[in-house]
Amino acid sequence: MRLAVIILAAGKGTRMKSALPKVLHPVGGLPMLGHVVNTAHELEATRVVVVYGHGGERVQEALADRTVDWVLQEKQLGTGHAVAEAVPHIQDCELALVLYGDVPLVLPESVKPLLAAAASDKVGMLTVRLANPTGYGRIVRGQDGTVQRIVEEKDASPAEKAIVEGNTGILACPVKRLGGWVERLDNSNAQGEFYLTDVVAMAVADGVEVDAFSVQDEMEVSGANDRVQLARLERAYQRRRAEALMLGGASMADPARVEVRGEVTTGNDCQIDVNVVFEGRVVLGEGVSIGPNCVIRDSRVDDGARILANCVLEGARVGQGCTVGPFARLRPEAELAASAQVGNFVEIKKSTVGPGSKVNHLTYIGDARIGSHVNVGAGTITCNYDGVNKHPTVIGDGAFVGSNSSLVAPVNVGEGAVIGAGSTVSREVPAGKLTISRARQRSMAWKKPSRES
Ligand code: UD1
Ligand code: CA
Repeated sequence: MRLAVIILAAGKGTRMKSALPKVLHPVGGLPMLGHVVNTAHELEATRVVVVYGHGGERVQEALADRTVDWVLQEKQLGTGHAVAEAVPHIQDCELALVLYGDVPLVLPESVKPLLAAAASDKVGMLTVRLANPTGYGRIVRGQDGTVQRIVEEKDASPAEKAIVEGNTGILACPVKRLGGWVERLDNSNAQGEFYLTDVVAMAVADGVEVDAFSVQDEMEVSGANDRVQLARLERAYQRRRAEALMLGGASMADPARVEVRGEVTTGNDCQIDVNVVFEGRVVLGEGVSIGPNCVIRDSRVDDGARILANCVLEGARVGQGCTVGPFARLRPEAELAASAQVGNFVEIKKSTVGPGSKVNHLTYIGDARIGSHVNVGAGTITCNYDGVNKHPTVIGDGAFVGSNSSLVAPVNVGEGAVIGAGSTVSREVPAGKLTISRARQRSMAWKKPSRES
């Protein structure tokens, strides 16, 4: 059946004390609302309607790449009013599910039973048992245990306040029924709002069954109203991501000290040390090890490669069995072929390093093509930029570049060439020869000056 997901996101989020609309605050590097839209897509929703209010344009811009319908709720008259504004946009669907833009950790599996209930012409709702239910609507059940209605904290009697089953607000039902119910809501309650929660009593009055399902993990249905709650969601999210990676075959020195802000896939037997941050799309092969304090963004590291401590990789590709670091920086389009070695204080940008080649110390390689089994000595610099344009450096297989050389691009170094230490080369370096371009060393007699009186 065609599913419409209505995401409520019109709240101001005053307690965030932020110029950024609340639902755009990130969890795991993605705006909270982005997580909820992803959940809707995972549920294969035909339509995703986001009800927005304050900061609307920024919210729309931030999610411009998503296929969602936007509905402006000019005045926040309550959750029931917000849903009523969305109803005209979902008439081509049979089922409706209500989610919240500031409740990002709900799992699709947890709402699937609600959708099944809705598909059987019932109301499906998600509840949570809470040690401290203050602030939540309470689920009022009859003698026989069936759900009768939801009472908001501010409207609840002392006896109702003692109920520990709280309303998550997440609910599913047939679109036709939802439309009829939200039309009839009134705002004669403690807050003068149109409560979505009142549809439960309406369903009961109409003889429609209400099925309540409980989530075990409270964090799954928790929202973020301030930055303290946001940080709690972040921890819960990161724990979830770390556990998924460990179950996928990666070992972690401490799952509480790894951050995933994007998509990471790992082969079996990866080892991830402490304080590692993954961003964007990262693919690690089998048996890859990542040392402490690394940031790895949009990169791929093949089987058996070792990234040592304190490396930063962005848009890089590291081949099988390479070692990188400690303290190396691989920038976009750095590509290391199998068994290459990149050592400390080396920066590589938009360059390929061939199989078995070594760039081990204090070097900048930019816009270069380095062949196989090349040795790039300590302190080598490709002078790739003339202040206006970037130029290429090509180094043939088996070449040896002496320490502290400057390769002024565009320049070619032939196969098996040897460049003497301290050379500045700006012309073709022929294959198989020793090329030196430094002043010849001289020694001469010298008399120490005597002090003038
Ligand atoms: C709501 C529920 C309560 C539940 C709690 C769970 C109602 C009446 N109450 O209460 O039973 O326990 O959530 O957190 O539904 N929103 C709009 N437009 C509006 C009003 C709200 O988009 O006019 C959005 C808000 O941005 C927010 C969500 O709906 O994301 C919930 O609104 P909020 O006012 O926080 O409801 P609660 O009082 O927390
Ligand atoms: Ca709330």
